[in-house]
Amino acid sequence: MGICDSVNSKSNISYSNTSFEKEDTSIRKETKVNSTDISNEKIRRNINNHRKSIEKRNQIEKTQVSQSANLKKKRKKNSITIDKINKEKRARTLEFNELENEKKERELKEEDEKNNENDLGINTKLIINCNNKNPKDQYKIIKKLGKGAYGTVWKVRNIKTGLLRAMKRITKMRNNINKLNDILNEIEILKNMDHPNIVKIFEFFIEADGYYIITEYCHGGELFKAIKSKGYFSEDMAANIMYQVFNAMNYCHNTNKVIHRDLKPENIMIESIDPETGYYNIKIIDFGTAKIRQSDKSENKVLGSCYYIAPEVLNKKYNEKCDIWSCGVILYILLCGNVPFNGRDEREITQKIKLGKFDLNRKPFDNISEEAKDLIKQCLEMNVNKRISAKEALEHPWFTLLKTKEYFINVNEYFMNKTINNLIMYKPKNKLQQLALTYLVHNFPDLNEIKNINKIFLMFNTSDNGKLSREETYQGLLKYLNYSSEEELEQKVNKIFKNIDNDNNGFIECEEFSRAALDKRIFLDENVLKFTFDFMDKDGSGEISLSELKEVFGVKDDKESEKLLKEIIDKIDKDGNGEISIKEYSDMMKNIII
Ligand SMILES: Nc1ncnc2c1ncn2[C@@H]1O[C@H](COP(=O)(O)OP(=O)(O)O)[C@@H](O)[C@H]1O
Ligand SMILES: [Mg+2]
Repeated sequence: MGICDSVNSKSNISYSNTSFEKEDTSIRKETKVNSTDISNEKIRRNINNHRKSIEKRNQIEKTQVSQSANLKKKRKKNSITIDKINKEKRARTLEFNELENEKKERELKEEDEKNNENDLGINTKLIINCNNKNPKDQYKIIKKLGKGAYGTVWKVRNIKTGLLRAMKRITKMRNNINKLNDILNEIEILKNMDHPNIVKIFEFFIEADGYYIITEYCHGGELFKAIKSKGYFSEDMAANIMYQVFNAMNYCHNTNKVIHRDLKPENIMIESIDPETGYYNIKIIDFGTAKIRQSDKSENKVLGSCYYIAPEVLNKKYNEKCDIWSCGVILYILLCGNVPFNGRDEREITQKIKLGKFDLNRKPFDNISEEAKDLIKQCLEMNVNKRISAKEALEHPWFTLLKTKEYFINVNEYFMNKTINNLIMYKPKNKLQQLALTYLVHNFPDLNEIKNINKIFLMFNTSDNGKLSREETYQGLLKYLNYSSEEELEQKVNKIFKNIDNDNNGFIECEEFSRAALDKRIFLDENVLKFTFDFMDKDGSGEISLSELKEVFGVKDDKESEKLLKEIIDKIDKDGNGEISIKEYSDMMKNIII
């Protein structure tokens, strides 16, 4: 794709009549923060403090390698600052759990000793497969959602499960090897994404007429359309949206080394709207032009949409910071309803981008906080090295001022205790239970309970990188649990990592965390049982066979693996016919409930 390809091809935005420009300012919402109420001095101090704190943190990060000895001190300090009253209260509610847990732990340990199924690794990638059936037999088209240069996206319903999904078809073009690579690239990148603000992929098909990708369906439509209908947003609302975008970008850039390269409101979807606050739960889509970054090598392919493209992309030498520039453009639009760099045609727009001048004096910026303007300036910084990173943006004073993060980490104490207890006690008794949980959690990201678990994950994940380290887990337990000794806490962390870190990479990813934290009584629901059973019963015969298990675990045709899978079947197959019936499966799954 060339510069502005998507603008031209989709004609979502026309240059002469910028869709975001609205004459009618009466629909503008009042922002909750009035800049005149805040003394300029205070703001400058805040921003300066923020800049200083970034510099300071960079310094700290450099010396952190030799800091393990200081950890103990830090932990002691933390434990003193924890609210004592809360601790006592939690201690009482957890006392009972503890006794129960000890009993269960003994039982589980005995069971563990008898268990041999340790070599079958389970991760989310295992359940995202190329389906060799016809997509049209599996999904019923409901309506068209969008059309791009190479394909179409529909809202569809899975005929078997009834679940709503989005289906993207990319038409096969003769001799277009590059496009094939782009599609495989999009699938591969999405398979590795495990973040609440990035759309989930479920399966894909390779057909004669094209490639089909099945993803999570976002009910609320494009952010682009919401901007068009509202004109612009209050600061609170804009901050809430941008916090999620920066969070997703931090995960892409730092954890997965992925650059999106086409960030714009048409690729930011509203998954749902909070009925109480009206806030959007957003998801980033369209990784078709995304790229896995080679360390320290800059990119040179010019991609992206005209209004959002960074100046260094036009100069063909860029890195992940090009996405931050796009974030700056999006934030500007959210707050004022206009694009920062406009022109009659592509040439004029790109010229303005290269100059990097934008207007923060136009209406309604006189009513917008200095913090918001500072974040825009830091994103639309011409010097890439000086431009703010996604991680730094998450810590910007604007989000502190509006208490943006608080909204995302708001859970009640009962739910917190229950979740932590589930985490500590998580120990699936066999690989089928583990697989069923993996499949369930991945397929129901919109379940309320999973959304709340994600909030706790965010509370623990103080580095905001989308994966929990041992230290973060330790600090999380220390903060939200009452344990007398450090040793005891270390033991809990070890146990959690042993049982939860299924892919053994030394971190707990978001879905791993949800699997452990989810209330397993969900498996008392026959529909849930059937849903996970059907995933393993590939031919729909009503029995899970050895060859089906081989397929779902993606194991090779060797004697070792076959022996292992046979052992799994034998333990569950009570009538001895060599296969697992739905009844046998249900009985086995129900004993996952602790
Ligand atoms: N998961 C989804 N849920 C709802 N609508 C979607 C979803 N994915 C895509 N769309 C709609 O289809 C449009 C095109 O999809 P996208 O993946 O961006 O393809 P393209 O590469 O053609 O831009 C989007 O802008 C959006 O309107
Ligand atoms: Mg798109």
